[in-house]
Order: sequence, then C-alpha cells, then structure tokens
Amino acid sequence: MNTPILVCVAWPYANADIHQGNVTGSYLPADIFARYHRLKGNDVLMVSGSDSHGTPVTVKAEEMGKSVDEVFNYYHGRFLRLFQQLGLGYDLFTHTHTENHARVSQDMFLALLNNGYLYKKITPQMYSPTAGKFLPDRYIEGTCPNCGYDSAYGDQCERCGTSLSPDELINPVSTISSKTPVKKSTQHWYLPLNRHENWLREWILQEHKNDWRPTVTGQCKSWIEGGLQPRAVTRDLDWGIKVPVAGADGKVLYVWFDAPIGYISATKQWALDNNKDWKPYWYEKDTRLVHFIGKDNIVFHCIIFPVMLKLHGNIVPDNVPANEFLNLEGDKMSTSRNWKLEMQDYIN
Ligand code: 2FM
Ligand code: ZN
Repeated sequence: MNTPILVCVAWPYANADIHQGNVTGSYLPADIFARYHRLKGNDVLMVSGSDSHGTPVTVKAEEMGKSVDEVFNYYHGRFLRLFQQLGLGYDLFTHTHTENHARVSQDMFLALLNNGYLYKKITPQMYSPTAGKFLPDRYIEGTCPNCGYDSAYGDQCERCGTSLSPDELINPVSTISSKTPVKKSTQHWYLPLNRHENWLREWILQEHKNDWRPTVTGQCKSWIEGGLQPRAVTRDLDWGIKVPVAGADGKVLYVWFDAPIGYISATKQWALDNNKDWKPYWYEKDTRLVHFIGKDNIVFHCIIFPVMLKLHGNIVPDNVPANEFLNLEGDKMSTSRNWKLEMQDYIN
C-alpha cells in the first residue's frame, strides 16, 4: 500500500460563518493537495470538523442569548452545507462535541499526565466577582504588550499573532462587563514546553529548514529563541471536555489542547465508520501528516501539538504550509473584528 497522506485541515470555531480568507487560507489549498494525491493513487485521508469548545463559542452564545449547544450546532450545520456547495472533499468533517472526541482527548491528557509530562500548579487568574466566574482567554481584552493593539484577547493578539495569557495584557478588562477583573488562585495543569526546546530546535530549524515555508520556520525560530514557557492546558469553564481527574470539578481541557486532538479522534471515527484501521495514520513513521492552517495557528501546530504528539508516541507533522491572511481593502479578513466577505454571500 502507498504511504498514507493525512491531510489535517484547520477546524473553524463554530461561532461565525466562514469567510473567504478561511477558504483561501486553509480549506481550498488542502482540497487541491488531497485531490492531487488521490489522482496519483495515493492513500489520502482528509479530516476536520467544527471547533465547538472554548471561549470563542461561549462568548458568542452569551452575545446571542442562546445556549452554547444551540450556537455550535447552528454553525456546524452551516459549515457542512457550505462545504458541500464548495465541493470540498473531506473524508470526514465532524465536530469536537462528540463522545468519541471527549474520550480520545481525555485518554491523551491522562497518558501525558501519568507519564509525568504534565504538572499541576496553583496560580492567580482573572476572576469576575460579579459574574462569580473565572475569565479565561476571550473573556479578557486589553492592550497587546507586543504591538500595542488595544483589543487583543487574553489568549492571542489578532493583529500581531502573539500568543498571550490574560495577565500579559496591559489594562485588562472583562469583555462581559468592561470592568477590571480581580485575581483569584486556581489550580491548572501545565505542559512544560521549555523542556522540549532542544528537540523542537533540531526538528524545525535543522531537519525542516529547507522544506518548510520560511514564514513558518521564521515564526518558530523567534519563539524558540525567545524561550518557550509552560502552557496551561486546562481552564475554569463549564463548556468543554471535563478534566478527567478527581477533584477537578468545573475544569475543562483548554480548547487548544482538545481541538488538535480532533485530528486523531476524527481519524478514529472515520476508520470506525469505514471498517478501516486508524493506527497507521498516527503511528506509522512514513505517514505524511500535513496541516493546512492560517498563520495565526502556527504556534499550536508547529510547537504545542507536535510536543503532545511526540510525548504520546505519535508521528509529528511532515509539513505545515500555513498561509498568510487574505486582505480586504488592505486589512486582514477577520471574524472577530467582523471585517470579511462571507463565503455564502460569495457563492450566492
Ligand atoms: O483559529 C481557529 O479558528 C481554530 N478554531 C483552529 C483550530 S485548528 C485545530 F487545531 F483544531
Ligand atoms: Zn499584538
């Protein structure tokens, strides 16, 4: 049999309609690549799905006055229809709110934890006394310490792409109340990326220095040389996959921990539905794993997820051909800043 080619395409957040930039940046290049390899007779599997968890979806549900379940199902249905209209050839387009995905994600969390690759720590985090809850990620907005953009989120700056934690923001405020949050101590589990710098440097900056895009290796180089920090892989939220540990009530896996595991759970689901073996795709060293993503997702697909994969005994990506953003009147298309040409309008 030919070497398997696993085409893993970015999972859109189920919180807004897809715009042209998402299609040109990730979905269309993936489809072209998959079609080319299918025509050559290669064994191609192309998977993705709706990213149903995390604060992008809960914040949207609060804005719409609807349940999170309703919101993610609504957008998931729209993505499926749109992709059919576009003729994108996914072997499976699923979502992350399935039992299969929860089990695969929890198993991976426990495997990493039980092998000593995660550790727990109590730290002060942003908290809203009025709402009576912690305010992770997109519940916090402030000024980016890197580029000065004044509406950066607690997890990432939309303008410069820097990945952030809420306490790095200047003048942080709650996106629900616009008030300044207080700090409250809470326990989370961390992935110590700093312990894996040597391997990442060797793998990305030596092994792939000629076959990965310079825009991708360049970003990785600056993070690795800047020194990687441990990253929390859990959050205080009630929407998401429960942390499978006694005493972790009210805590879920961080959306950027569970979403990439979706590539594995989707492969398993596809194999189950089609009476195939999923293991060669994730354990066979010759499998070519290729991620089609936008450039704001590079850190997760080139640094964090590969560390998880390696520690878990899986293959790591063969390439991550991340694209730059599509501009509209000179400014990047963006869902969160509502600056976009929606794909459905384009089709209509
Ligand atoms: O940036 C985004 O829209 C994320 N939902 C992409 C996730 S890709 C993968 F990791 F699931
Ligand atoms: Zn910035």
